Amino acid sequence: MEGRTLIYAIANQKGGVGKTTTAINLAASLAQAGERVLLVDMDSQANASHGLGVRIPHGEPSILEVLLGERILGEIIRSSCVPGLDIAPSSPDMAGAGVLLPGLSRREFRLRDALGTVLVPEQAYRHIFIDCPPSLGLLTVNALVAADQVIIPVQAEYFALEGLAQLLSTIAAVRERLNRQLRIAGLVLTMVDVRTSLARQVEVEVRTHFPNLSFRTIVPRNVRLAEAPSHGLPVCMLDPYCAGSDAYFDLALEVVNNG
Ligand SMILES: Nc1ncnc2c1ncn2[C@@H]1O[C@H](COP(=O)(O)OP(=O)(O)O)[C@@H](O)[C@H]1O
Ligand SMILES: [Mg+2]
Repeated sequence: MEGRTLIYAIANQKGGVGKTTTAINLAASLAQAGERVLLVDMDSQANASHGLGVRIPHGEPSILEVLLGERILGEIIRSSCVPGLDIAPSSPDMAGAGVLLPGLSRREFRLRDALGTVLVPEQAYRHIFIDCPPSLGLLTVNALVAADQVIIPVQAEYFALEGLAQLLSTIAAVRERLNRQLRIAGLVLTMVDVRTSLARQVEVEVRTHFPNLSFRTIVPRNVRLAEAPSHGLPVCMLDPYCAGSDAYFDLALEVVNNG
């Protein structure tokens, strides 16, 4: 496919809303559709790395060394279990980023500068997804500065919209000061229990508050999605015909079409 790389940050400072699940399965869906995709793991929990079968032992270089300027991105990128999908893995050492990064020059631009080194045409990734940690700290700011668009997973539960105002104002501040082209791709409802009226209420609420910013696709609660990481596989390789695979394939189509 022609065109430049599109970079998406998957962000929400709430934990457990489906960021990593969305990052892994969107990236894998696009790779399975034949595109070259890179997933960047910015969380010290390294769930995205583990979920794709990549585990970096303590002391070995990960995205942390890239952010610190000790390695270039190409040196730490690994291929994942999905053909066409590479991963820039995290490791538990990333927990130190919070104290190490603030003292550096261009501290908000560290990831953007690093991604610049893999945007050369011969190794060009068509899509890059950045899985953010559950905070609005410097790592998430780095992701927002590096990205063209933000995808915001929202868990379908009470208080689903709580905290969103703070996220949206962080995005607005980054857009104003650090990354003029940043835009919101959309909110995606995750872990939707389609049988409950609560899920329908939350969906109505999200679509009412964010009429132009909500993906049509909703991700149902699906046990295969929860099981897949323990196999080190995206859901489309564990069970290509389950509801979770269908949903993330549909979401990938929507993301690409909205490009
Ligand atoms: N649609 C879903 N159906 C069932 N379980 C899910 C779904 N999405 C996420 N999960 C599970 O919920 C937990 C939190 O999801 P995760 O993607 O890790 O969230 P985050 O990255 O925002 O912390 C994980 O155990 C994950 O496997
Ligand atoms: Mg996560």
